[in-house]
Amino acid sequence: MLLDKLFGIFSNDLAIDLGTANTVVIARGRGIIINEPSVVALKENKYGKRKVLAIGNQAKEMLGKTPDNIIAIRPLKEGVIADFDVAEEMIRFFIKKAHNRNAFIRPRVIICVPYGLTQVERKAVEDSAYSAGAREVVLVEEPIAAAIGAGLPIKDPKGNLVIDIGGGTTEIGVISLDGLVVSKSIKIGGDRFDSEIVEYMRKKFNLYIGERTAEEIKIEIGSAIKRDEDVKMHIKGRDQISGLLKEVEVSSEDIREAIKEPLEEIAKALKSILEVTPPDLAGDIVENGIALTGGGALLYGIDKYLSKAVKLPVYVAEDPLLSVAKGTGAMLEDIELLRQV
Ligand SMILES: Nc1ncnc2c1ncn2[C@@H]1O[C@H](COP(=O)(O)OP(=O)(O)O)[C@@H](O)[C@H]1O
Ligand SMILES: [Mg+2]
Repeated sequence: MLLDKLFGIFSNDLAIDLGTANTVVIARGRGIIINEPSVVALKENKYGKRKVLAIGNQAKEMLGKTPDNIIAIRPLKEGVIADFDVAEEMIRFFIKKAHNRNAFIRPRVIICVPYGLTQVERKAVEDSAYSAGAREVVLVEEPIAAAIGAGLPIKDPKGNLVIDIGGGTTEIGVISLDGLVVSKSIKIGGDRFDSEIVEYMRKKFNLYIGERTAEEIKIEIGSAIKRDEDVKMHIKGRDQISGLLKEVEVSSEDIREAIKEPLEEIAKALKSILEVTPPDLAGDIVENGIALTGGGALLYGIDKYLSKAVKLPVYVAEDPLLSVAKGTGAMLEDIELLRQV
């Protein structure tokens, strides 16, 4: 018991991947301790005053299933802070949860934030970590954390290209000698795939489904390239015209058609980065390929799709949903590395 407590005090530093869809917290020496959706559920009283009901897993459960006076918010949905108060509340919640609400612990916290955050938004993230009791807060760039987490040799004088497809954004970076050489962030990611699926189901089948169902369809039968076998799925939803519940059968080909546009946008962004990559670094990328991280990397065939689009090798990093968190965690263990980046 005592040993546990002592250990807790010595390993209180945290690395946080504050994603648009998921937040992952790593404690120094203990690995991943939190992995929950970046969602906050709020209840509004009749005077319009809002109260936080739940955060994380519990809040995501409520998404799309809530009565009118309960709303679920994703404070960082498109890689910008939509609601500062709610974002701060979420950050504080995760930091406190990581320490079992032990008020005596004042950790050092490294937070990886979406690349597109403005100075004001970064300051808000920092302030919420301080108000949750952090002793020191360091913010790091997402493409660099993703590259470290994917195991790329970013210290070398070579070009490393990583593309992280998250929920709200896709972030692309070329990294060399511990620094970002060129980078780009677009507001297209897994969420856009989901909303395109909602739209497609409405247009093709007159079927109204929610975003959560769309996400399930994407994960189950979605694909970026033609599958060896055309898998199918039965989907329940509401008929747009009659208003009655009905069921339709959709195929992976349908879903491929549905998400075509956002996929093209991601390929276009990748091409535009390659166009501005210095030729010496481009040579390394041709040789070593492009690493894919983030939950979007798990979409069936997206590596092959992007590879075909840019005519370069593309591969999915190990555990792509955790690359950024692991990269941020690595900085926690290696202060020298943190100083470099
Ligand atoms: N197997 C899968 N196939 C396709 N998309 C997936 C899969 N698993 C998760 N995703 C998507 O990945 C996104 C979340 O990725 P994540 O890297 O956690 O985002 P963020 O870093 O923005 O929080 C969501 O849009 C989710 O639907
Ligand atoms: Mg991420």
